[in-house]
Amino acid sequence: MNKLLKDEISAGLQSSIPFISPKFFYDDIGSRLFEVITHLEEYYPTRVEKSIMQMYEHQIATSIGACDVLLDLGAGNCAKASELFDSIKPQQYLALDISKDFLESAIADLQKRFPHIEMRAQVCDLSQTLHFPNLENKKKTFFYPGSSIGNFNPNQVSSFFKNIASICNGSGGLLIGVDLVKDSQVLQKAYDDSLGVTAAFNLNALLHINHILGSNFDLTDWEHFAIFNESESRIEMYLRALRDVSVTWPDNSLNFKSGEMIHTENSYKYTKDSFTNLLDNAGFKNIETWTDPKNYFLVCYAKA
Ligand code: AVI
Repeated sequence: MNKLLKDEISAGLQSSIPFISPKFFYDDIGSRLFEVITHLEEYYPTRVEKSIMQMYEHQIATSIGACDVLLDLGAGNCAKASELFDSIKPQQYLALDISKDFLESAIADLQKRFPHIEMRAQVCDLSQTLHFPNLENKKKTFFYPGSSIGNFNPNQVSSFFKNIASICNGSGGLLIGVDLVKDSQVLQKAYDDSLGVTAAFNLNALLHINHILGSNFDLTDWEHFAIFNESESRIEMYLRALRDVSVTWPDNSLNFKSGEMIHTENSYKYTKDSFTNLLDNAGFKNIETWTDPKNYFLVCYAKA
């Protein structure tokens, strides 16, 4: 097992505020649980974003104009981007994600449905600076849906936006979806659903870590906890110890007191102004926005 990953997890657990990076949610089971979360009544972002994209499909396509390449950031099964193909009509589609195997099988299926679009898959870690030297003279539309941007902290968001604006180099832009600040009860239910799927998604990170680190986290010692931190404008997810717990892994051990928490995720929520200001400050020139009747979610096209 990868030593860097083990060291990263070990350091996070032993830090003064113990944490596990949210990337450890997404093993095989975690990715399936996330997919289920997106179907839950309480988890509105996926459903509301889709409704905005459908409702304003033509306006969005008009704002984007010609598109040489559609770059799908965190493409997953490529389903969301494929819903844009008919309106945006990209000549090329570049699907980017951390797992190439998954991407390649998704693309193989898509290519049959859209034989006229040139498709490629590329492994990409969005926490690193992006470069696309082969696409220098193409008009690029970056696509980053699902409020995945909410899992970056505001400083990371600024660097990410600046990186994309500079790659666009005065043409093309970024089509992005983001979750908006709203009633804290609605937010909290979205991250603590009554079926317990988000709880399972959160707890599964411990199983994933046991697998990587060789640790002995016992799920029955831990509970899911999610809270909206208003001053930071973010949902925070934690795993909370139900009793005093001792965890061991090769060459190490750690004790947690009952009630002690491991921080597993932040999901930032923006206002329309706070979000468009970030895009503006990163150098995007013209920002168009679309929302739903309840103002739950925002879709933006930021022109470079
Ligand atoms: C992937 N990301 C946008 C989700 C979110 O809403 O922050 C992850 C998630 N965590 C709990 N539920 C969903």
